[in-house]
Amino acid sequence: MVLGVGGFAQAVMQILSDDGAEVSCALTRDYAHDAPAFAGPTHDLASTESLADLIERQSVDLVVPMSIDWAKAPWAGSLLGSRAAVFSPTGEAMRIERDRDFARQLCQRYGVPFPAAHVAHTRLAALEFLDCNPRAFVIKNPLCSPNSPVHTIVCETHGDSRAWLERVNYDEGVFLQEYLGRREAGHIALVANGEVYSLVTNQEYKRAHAGNMGIVAGGPLGGLAQADPADRYGLAKALLHPLKPWFAETGYTGPIQATGIFCDGQWHAIEYNIRLGITATPMILRMLEHPVALLMRLASGEPPGVRFRTGREFGASMTLAGYGYPFVQLEGPTVPVTLDGKLTCDVWWNEVASGDGGSLLATGHRVADVVAVGSDRSAALAVANENIRKIRCLGSYFRPDIGESLWPPGNE
Ligand SMILES: Nc1ncnc2c1ncn2[C@@H]1O[C@H](COP(=O)(O)OP(=O)(O)O)[C@@H](O)[C@H]1O
Ligand SMILES: [Mg+2]
Repeated sequence: MVLGVGGFAQAVMQILSDDGAEVSCALTRDYAHDAPAFAGPTHDLASTESLADLIERQSVDLVVPMSIDWAKAPWAGSLLGSRAAVFSPTGEAMRIERDRDFARQLCQRYGVPFPAAHVAHTRLAALEFLDCNPRAFVIKNPLCSPNSPVHTIVCETHGDSRAWLERVNYDEGVFLQEYLGRREAGHIALVANGEVYSLVTNQEYKRAHAGNMGIVAGGPLGGLAQADPADRYGLAKALLHPLKPWFAETGYTGPIQATGIFCDGQWHAIEYNIRLGITATPMILRMLEHPVALLMRLASGEPPGVRFRTGREFGASMTLAGYGYPFVQLEGPTVPVTLDGKLTCDVWWNEVASGDGGSLLATGHRVADVVAVGSDRSAALAVANENIRKIRCLGSYFRPDIGESLWPPGNE
């Protein structure tokens, strides 16, 4: 059972169903409900009496959450007490994503380079810190949640940081993290019994426009994932392996993504996520051999036995953004989505609704993710590029340059 909405839920359900699982979705947000229904039964949590009853009735073995907000839901305790395993670390182990300053302290304790950072609770305190540290600081929420009043604002100069600190909401304070440049990459692994099992090295194209121009959008415009069980770029060695004692101590069981920036000759951790990630999950699950059995082994604390399918060593994801994106305050009407030709790779619909006679309507800012896999980067990208051009929707756009920069890891 997936806890989520949109293309993430549709992808996880469809891929695990193709691998033989019986799937369903508990809808956790009030939008993007139609896409998961293309892949299996859905239940709106807003009107479902008890998630635990649903799990019991359907004999659910595994729950895959889309985001970390499930842990704050009123039903979190009954989920943890149910028969189902949750594909996520729980309790204290969640703090590595939830609490940015905790992640900083952890990195300090285990010798993982982390940018200079500071939590400020008021505008005055933030400006005072900036005056004493006249460099560029990225502005983030101290506690991660999809409902935070602050979303990451990547400031590249001291003046940028100063300008934005006058604007942001201080209800939950701000986490100021020194800007380390653009040489970013990610690494995604599974953790069980204090051991780190590498899956992929990945990239996300977070800027709204081609050439990595424009703002860092709320969701990326594309992504790459390369099977990397041997950690060829050294990201797991730098950012994950030093944390093994903490993984063991907290009983960490589940996925982890480290995002790093290469600066001054070494990788620095800028963020940890306790999920495979919205962009990477649909690629990783298609690339893996027997994903259902692998997830079940991990959930029961066994070594996951990571094996990739031959010819699927690389994944490419391209997002079709809708009218107004990335400035989500701008909204258009729902408009028809049409296809010009037959799709030959995965297309996960996000903010769409079913119209009359099997038609599709775009209802929001992120219309679809087009995801292809192949034996190398150019093969996967070629298929994604060919397919995204078959989808038409007024005011939509995509980045035609996904995969052309920021790869191999460490490059701009
Ligand atoms: N310290 C930093 N230096 C440079 N870029 C950063 C830094 N922190 C974040 N960014 C950019 O902003 C993006 C989002 O920040 P991140 O910490 O991952 O928060 P979130 O994913 O919660 O928005 C990063 O992927 C990166 O592109
Ligand atoms: Mg991030």
